[in-house]
Amino acid sequence: MRVLVTGGAGYIGSHTCIRLLEAGHEVTVLDNFQNSRPEVLDRVQTITDATLEVLHADVRAPESFTQFMGEWKPEAVVHFAGLKSVNESVEKPAEYYSTNVQGTVNVARAFVEMGGGAFVFSSTAAVYGAEATMPVTENSPTRPVNPYGWSKLMAEQVLKDIHTAHPQLSVALLRYFNPVGAHPSGLIGEDPAGVPANLMPYMARVADGTYPSLKVFGSDYPTADGSGVRDFLHVDDLAESHIVALKSLAGDPGLVTWNVGRGEGVSVFEMVAAFQRVTGRRIPYSVEPRRPGDVAESYADPTEIERATSWRAGRSVDDMVADLWRWQKRSSAD
Ligand code: NAD
Ligand code: WQD
Repeated sequence: MRVLVTGGAGYIGSHTCIRLLEAGHEVTVLDNFQNSRPEVLDRVQTITDATLEVLHADVRAPESFTQFMGEWKPEAVVHFAGLKSVNESVEKPAEYYSTNVQGTVNVARAFVEMGGGAFVFSSTAAVYGAEATMPVTENSPTRPVNPYGWSKLMAEQVLKDIHTAHPQLSVALLRYFNPVGAHPSGLIGEDPAGVPANLMPYMARVADGTYPSLKVFGSDYPTADGSGVRDFLHVDDLAESHIVALKSLAGDPGLVTWNVGRGEGVSVFEMVAAFQRVTGRRIPYSVEPRRPGDVAESYADPTEIERATSWRAGRSVDDMVADLWRWQKRSSAD
């Protein structure tokens, strides 16, 4: 298939491009590189020994990609391009709605106008909000608690309505839990600008000596060891789920909403222990107050995607840590 990958130079997008190329698809990446670097796509091509095309364009500006879509006629779109920081979304809500909602309107509209096909959308566990009971199913109530979560829920609604009006647009809404890790080559991975806000990139920078210690935000949650619990999954499993979704939509067009997680809650302290065990590095940490806005635990019921496609995330916590550490050592040596 000809697959347009918006945001394909980013963390999850680049790993997904590898899977798409390995599966023999033709890939064009649409990205404005505001949170990524074009060199990543060179590495994707090195890893796969395949070529992809790049369209430097902005999802907020349909004139930057509509003509290309009309000419190249993608059969599928995987729409990663978006902004993803919860904190930043509180400070700059208009930016988040513009990129995540209007950007999705623009891409979906252009796709429908050229005939439609399969559309896979990067949604998030953040659509569920704080009060969901665990594990979260796709039918759990959606009550986002920040503009980021709202922007993704609104984009989901946009896609549902466009699908209803134009059933030639098939849609998979993938609600990702906590992707971590990197490609096992160590050539691509997550590369946050500045001080990482998320647990695993920060821990990797403690392990390599960039920061002296990890701050554990809260040890008094009502969880088994008192620290926060999340559904961490390997980014390569997450990448694979997009290939699975495309295949499913091709054989059975329609609209699906799937959680993508492992269905297993892992605590912050368990992650620290795993990191130390797998890497042999010590992770000094201090226990700090809870981080505002955090929930005690968040993990998926991932059985719906497995029921529909027989696919489940197979990589372990140790795989996540080993691959993250290989990438961290390589990128800090660059
Ligand atoms: P990322 O920032 O690494 O990748 C996003 C890509 O989109 C980047 O290459 C960026 O340059 C590009 N982009 C941003 N705005 C754009 C615009 N206006 N026009 C064109 N390109 C633009 O993020 P990621 O972690 O790879 O996340 C990908 C998607 O998955 C996002 O939509 C994010 O909200 C969603 N998501 C991420 C996570 C996570 O924990 N990483 C969890 C759930 C959902
Ligand atoms: C995990 C746990 C922290 C950092 C965020 C977004 C979410 C999604 C993925 C896009 C929590 C604790 C963290 C640290 C810590 N993104 N922690 N010390 O908050 O589950 O999810 O990223 O859709 O929308 O909210 O991930 O990695 O930030 O935190 O103790 O230095 O680690 O308190 O319990 P989170 P995280």
